[in-house]
Amino acid sequence: MNLTMSAPTHIPVLLEETIEALDVQPGGRYIDCTLGAGGHAAAILEHSSPGGQLLGIDADPRAIKIARARLEAYSSSTLLINQNFANLQAICNKYDFFPVHGILFDLGLSSLQLENGRGFSFQHDAPLDMRLSPRQEITAAIIINASPESQLAHLIRAYGEERYSQQIAHQIVQQRPIITTLQLAQMIEEAVGGRRGRIHPATKTFQALRVAVNQELEHLQSALKQAIDLLGFGGRLVVISYHSLEDRIVKRLMHQEASGEEACLRLVNKKVITPSLAEVQFNPRSRSAKLRAAERITGPGEQFLSG
Ligand SMILES: C[S@@+](CC[C@H](N)C(=O)[O-])C[C@H]1O[C@@H](n2cnc3c(N)ncnc32)[C@H](O)[C@@H]1O
Repeated sequence: MNLTMSAPTHIPVLLEETIEALDVQPGGRYIDCTLGAGGHAAAILEHSSPGGQLLGIDADPRAIKIARARLEAYSSSTLLINQNFANLQAICNKYDFFPVHGILFDLGLSSLQLENGRGFSFQHDAPLDMRLSPRQEITAAIIINASPESQLAHLIRAYGEERYSQQIAHQIVQQRPIITTLQLAQMIEEAVGGRRGRIHPATKTFQALRVAVNQELEHLQSALKQAIDLLGFGGRLVVISYHSLEDRIVKRLMHQEASGEEACLRLVNKKVITPSLAEVQFNPRSRSAKLRAAERITGPGEQFLSG
């Protein structure tokens, strides 16, 4: 497979806005916690050159491989790590990579993962896997086929905000085993009485399963706290989220850390940044994106950014 050819199929979302929100400067030290196909990382490296450094993290070994090929020209200033960003602090300690000028989280999945038959999408028939990393043990199939009905209903409600969670969980339990994405999608459609509107009725359940399989909310909550600690004075934290559960965590933490006497952050934008109409038309996957940015107003080295 030609990796360089396949890399550009993920279009980075809110790219200019991200570089501006990170306030990328030549010689700066940055972390991309969700490397993906390396689109944002390439722009960060370009804007931080000469002398910039980037630590890129992704839980998916295939993403690392693609990004490594894409960022080859910058290989001497990049360090790419195949790990979960929940281990951010440990990774930075190991490689002595702190304090930093900016940290980016571009959450969720890349187009490559959605298209790769790994069970994330009901547009393609595939086994119900949904793991970001093959090192994880729990797949979506295990959750679907082994959880009690009440637990399934709770999960679909809590992580998918699906109002028909009870009906869907009931139908799943009746029809198990469920092996593939299309089988599940079709069953959900029947459970909720067919399609209404443009959004497929399986969308929220698929989101819920993905969030559960990858413990997305727990890892995000923990990684954001670690990220704040790694920023130097004046360093920026930028997070792009794609659904309300993620955005709520980001918003809460940023607002909490930016208020009161002990505040360690300042919000860079009072309002959340969303893609322009032109970007959504060009890249429909950007439509639900929300960017929030905060700046560290305490921390190591007041002269850090100018130094
Ligand atoms: C939307 S994509 C990032 C795309 C990237 N910004 C680009 O321009 O190509 C999100 C990436 O984050 C990775 N990811 C999601 N959750 C993660 C986690 N907890 N730890 C590490 N990587 C994660 C996914 O594997 C995926 O490759």
